[in-house]
Amino acid sequence: MSFKILGTGSCLPKRSVTNEELSQFLDTSDEWISQRVGIKARRICTTETTADLAVGAAKAAMEMSGVTADELDFILCATVTADNTTPSLACSVQSMIGATCPSMDINAACSGFIYLLETAAAFLSMKHERILIIGAERLTRVVDWTDRSTAVIFADGAGAMVLGKGDSYISSKLVAKGGDTVLSIPSFHGTSPFYEVEPKKPYVHMSGQEVFKFAVNAMCNDLADVIEAAGLTMDDIAWVIPHQANARIIDAAVRKFGIKPERCLKNIETTGNTSAASVAILADELFRSGKLKDGDYIAMAAFGAGLTSAACVIKWDGN
Ligand code: COA
Repeated sequence: MSFKILGTGSCLPKRSVTNEELSQFLDTSDEWISQRVGIKARRICTTETTADLAVGAAKAAMEMSGVTADELDFILCATVTADNTTPSLACSVQSMIGATCPSMDINAACSGFIYLLETAAAFLSMKHERILIIGAERLTRVVDWTDRSTAVIFADGAGAMVLGKGDSYISSKLVAKGGDTVLSIPSFHGTSPFYEVEPKKPYVHMSGQEVFKFAVNAMCNDLADVIEAAGLTMDDIAWVIPHQANARIIDAAVRKFGIKPERCLKNIETTGNTSAASVAILADELFRSGKLKDGDYIAMAAFGAGLTSAACVIKWDGN
């Protein structure tokens, strides 16, 4: 059960919003956000939909891979902010790029892109030859813009990969455990005159410190497990791609796990937390940077609502 990465792509909204701009209507400051979260600015949709971002990332990945829409056998999207409850984001992307293959979404929150890698690896071990996977979010649609503890963190963006058959997926670990109240986005409750329970508002609800503790432990345990399962040590890993939720979470994992800071990729300062898109955007930045060498091992780790977490080791095959 494995794959080869044929191409990567990413797409961010045009509008960048700084901490100073948020401070104009929220009781917050550039100093607080920079020190506690590590974000200076984030990209926020003004006219773009989640599908627009997903299609932008998909087209870039398809162009890099040389795979055309009619050659795709499956489209899989990870998102918690699809434009519609139905049709799926994947079905919207399918029609927007002119593909005809089966398409569906999965939801594993910020761990979603690694869940997609696992799902695609399983599909590629069966009859499918080429799969487009996309993590795409418009989280700024589901934050309460009066809640300073969440509005400053979340952002919009998309990352994609085209995968084919190959041997690059070396090891993986997917986790789902209790804690569904620690971080949640309740669905719109509807207008039924018969429903008697007071609904929670359909915005991000988060116990920040609980998520923080879970995140550091999950990232360290999952990375340790997938690196060991790959028969490697941390020294063998050329690049670590961690979910971009909080620079302090990443720094804590770097210290606890002895990761060389220059090997641990970060773009949270300008991109914010884009949930399922986060590790895919960073992977695209790495793949386009020219820094990757054939045979490099890349470790990815993510965590999020569910609670879920996931990690994997990928061996770069540039041929
Ligand atoms: N600006 C200024 N002050 C803020 C603020 C903001 N944007 N957000 C919260 N505060 C305040 C709080 O109200 C609190 O004030 P008080 O001491 O007067 O009560 C104070 O800052 C400390 O709040 P606390 O929640 O203890 O801060 P923290 O150090 O835990 O940082 C988070 C808060 C959310 C940044 C941090 O907990 C975190 O990043 N958690 C993980 C979240 C995450 O990764 N989510 C995504 C998972 S995929």
